[in-house]
Amino acid sequence: MLETGIMMRYGFDGPRKGIWKAVELEKAICDRFGCAHAQLVSSGTAALTTAMVALGIGYGDEIILPSFTFVASFEAVLSVGAIPVFVDVDDTLTLDPEAVRKAVTKKTKCIMPVHMCGSMADMDALQKICKENNLLLLEDACQSIGGTYKGKHLGTIGDAGTFSFDFVKTITCAEGGVVLTNRKDIHVAADGYSDHGHDHKGADRGAELHPIMGYNFRISELHAAVGLAQVRKLDEFLSIQRKNHQQLKEIINQIPEISFRRIPDAGGDSCTFLSWFLPTEEIATAVIQEMKSQNIMGGNFYWYDHNWHYIRKWDHLKNSTLLNTLHPDLKAAVISQATKEFPASNKVMSRCISTAISLTWTEDQISEKGNKIVAVIKKALAAKSVSV
Ligand SMILES: Cc1ncc(COP(=O)(O)O)c(C=O)c1O
Repeated sequence: MLETGIMMRYGFDGPRKGIWKAVELEKAICDRFGCAHAQLVSSGTAALTTAMVALGIGYGDEIILPSFTFVASFEAVLSVGAIPVFVDVDDTLTLDPEAVRKAVTKKTKCIMPVHMCGSMADMDALQKICKENNLLLLEDACQSIGGTYKGKHLGTIGDAGTFSFDFVKTITCAEGGVVLTNRKDIHVAADGYSDHGHDHKGADRGAELHPIMGYNFRISELHAAVGLAQVRKLDEFLSIQRKNHQQLKEIINQIPEISFRRIPDAGGDSCTFLSWFLPTEEIATAVIQEMKSQNIMGGNFYWYDHNWHYIRKWDHLKNSTLLNTLHPDLKAAVISQATKEFPASNKVMSRCISTAISLTWTEDQISEKGNKIVAVIKKALAAKSVSV
C-alpha cells in the first residue's frame, strides 16, 4: 500500500494493484469475532452514529443508555436527533435491567448497553426486554473488544454493535472503529452512510449511485493496516490481560471488606480492568487520598469524580451546551434527562475503583502494586474503625 500510494479504502481499482487493507481487516474481524458483517469507520464515535442511523433511529426516538459510559455514547445519540434516556447502573457497572424496564416508554426505540471496562451487561435480561417491547439492541462494546457473553462476542449479540480502535483500546488502529452486525440491511446502510451514500457497486467510483445521503466516516488504508497487525495479536493480549488480572485480584481479595464487580458471564471478561468496591463512599475517598499521597494513583480510576465517564460531571450535557442549535423540544428533553437523580448509580460508583491492567507488568510488579493497594485499604479501614 505504501508502494502503490493508495491510502483510500475505496476506488482506484487499477493503481491499487489488488491491495485492499480495510476489506482485509473487515474479513479478519468477521472471522475473529464471529459476525456476518463488519463496517470499518474512522472512530468508535463514528461507529455509534453510523449504527444508529443504519438502525433507523432518528428525531424524537428515545435510546436507553447507562449513567456510566463515555461521552461519545450520548454524543452519538444527539447527533442523530434522538433523546438519550439515562438509567442507573448496578454492580455490573452496566445497565440495571430493572431500571431499563421502568424507563421504557412509547417513544423508546433502542436499548444501548455499554460494556464498560472490559466486561458485560446482563444480555439475557436486556434481550428479553427488547423482545417484549419490540426494541432494537445496540451494543456499545467500544471498551470490551474480545469479551464474550455465553459464547458470543460482545458487540455481536444485538442488532448491531461497535468497537473503538482508538489508541487506548485493547487493539488499536491509532484511530478507528467498526460497526458489527449479523443483519445485511444494517450493513448495507452503514456501508453507504459512512461514505457519502455511495452504493459501492461496480469499479468506477464516480459512476456509483447514491441511494441515500451520508457523511465521510471512512477509515484510511493506513489505519486499517495497523488494525490488521493488531487483530492478529489479540489472543496474546487477552491471555496476558487475564493472567495479570487474576494475580492482582488474588492479592486484593485478601481483604474481606472488598467486593468485586459482578460479571454476568465470568469467563467472558476481557480483563482490561479490575474493578473493586470499598464498603462506603467515605472509605473510598480515604483510600483515594492515601493513594494520591503515596503517588500510586496512576492507572487507578475513581469514575465517580471523573469528568468524562459518569453523569455527575457532565455539566455540558446538563446545560445542553452545543455549538449548533437543538430543536427546543429536544433541548428540553435532553436537559430533563441529564438532570435526573441517580441515587442507585451513585451508591455503586462512589465506592468503585477500577485498576487498569497493563500488558507490560511483571509478576513482581503486580505483587508490589497489589501489596501497596492492600496496605492503603487496610489503613483506611482501620482509621474508619472497620474491622480488618
Ligand atoms: C464506551 C465508549 N464508547 C465510545 C467510544 C468512542 O470511541 P472513539 O474514541 O474511537 O471515538 C469510547 C472511547 O473511549 C468508549 O469508551
